[in-house]
Amino acid sequence: MPTTRLTVIDDDPAALDTLWEALEPEPDLALPRIRAVMISTVDGSTTVDGRSGGLGTPTDRLVYDAMRARADLVMVGSATALAEGYGPARIAEAWADRRPGPPPVVLVFTRSLPDRLIEHCAPLGDALQVVAAHGVPGDRLEVARRQGVTVHVLDPGPLRAAVRSLATHFGASEVAFEGGPELLGTFLREGAIDELVLSVAPQLVVGGDRTPLASGPGTSSVPMRVAAAFTCPHGGLYARWVVDGAAG
Ligand SMILES: NC(=O)c1ccc[n+]([C@@H]2O[C@H](COP(=O)([O-])OP(=O)(O)OC[C@H]3O[C@@H](n4cnc5c(N)ncnc54)[C@H](OP(=O)(O)O)[C@@H]3O)[C@@H](O)[C@H]2O)c1
Repeated sequence: MPTTRLTVIDDDPAALDTLWEALEPEPDLALPRIRAVMISTVDGSTTVDGRSGGLGTPTDRLVYDAMRARADLVMVGSATALAEGYGPARIAEAWADRRPGPPPVVLVFTRSLPDRLIEHCAPLGDALQVVAAHGVPGDRLEVARRQGVTVHVLDPGPLRAAVRSLATHFGASEVAFEGGPELLGTFLREGAIDELVLSVAPQLVVGGDRTPLASGPGTSSVPMRVAAAFTCPHGGLYARWVVDGAAG
């Protein structure tokens, strides 16, 4: 009977090359490429009892750091930025020699531009900038800008075009989209994600309070194909999925 054996990424320095290559985007994706990087349990939950901490393996950390090291821009939802205490992006030592130039700017997406978000971003300077949905009231934009927060407003119309136009404004070829589930659901529904790099943590959770990988109103199906996959001694499964129609 045929068996499928996945490449194992271990502590051997040569394995870093394998991992880096596995995360190489499909060559025929149009620029800018927007690639999500997420982790879930085997049953597809991104948080267990409200937290995503504890799911990651050292290999997942390498994957996450590599996606940042490849990126010209990071995009993230405001709930994740606040819950995870986002600060300026840094390039991890493991990938520093492959990354020329400064770390990517982090763009935090919001629909309401709450005071909490403004207070979080204000002390961090331009390493963390805010992207407001089209239609956020002008007085909210003013409050944020008065406190020194750089705020971009998305163009009206389809989200995919607006997000690409924003990335192009930054001269970005590659964007690491870091969730969370609500914003990922929105981006997927709007066709704004090209690839999903998904770490499946080596655990399945039975019961409990969980959040799916992508959430939001209604139900949509997004067909994908796996383009690269590997495992690690800790037992997780890591795959780069390409959204149908994004490449070629
Ligand atoms: N396992 C993983 O890989 C992973 C990854 C990331 C996060 N997480 C976890 O997920 C949780 C947070 O995720 P979440 O799904 O609740 O929230 P989220 O996706 O991080 O952020 C949702 C927020 O994004 C903003 N937003 C939504 N649609 C938008 C649009 N069209 N344009 C502009 N802004 C928009 C809104 O911000 P405002 O409320 O400011 O209007 C909305 O409340 C945290 O517990 C985090 O730890 C897990």
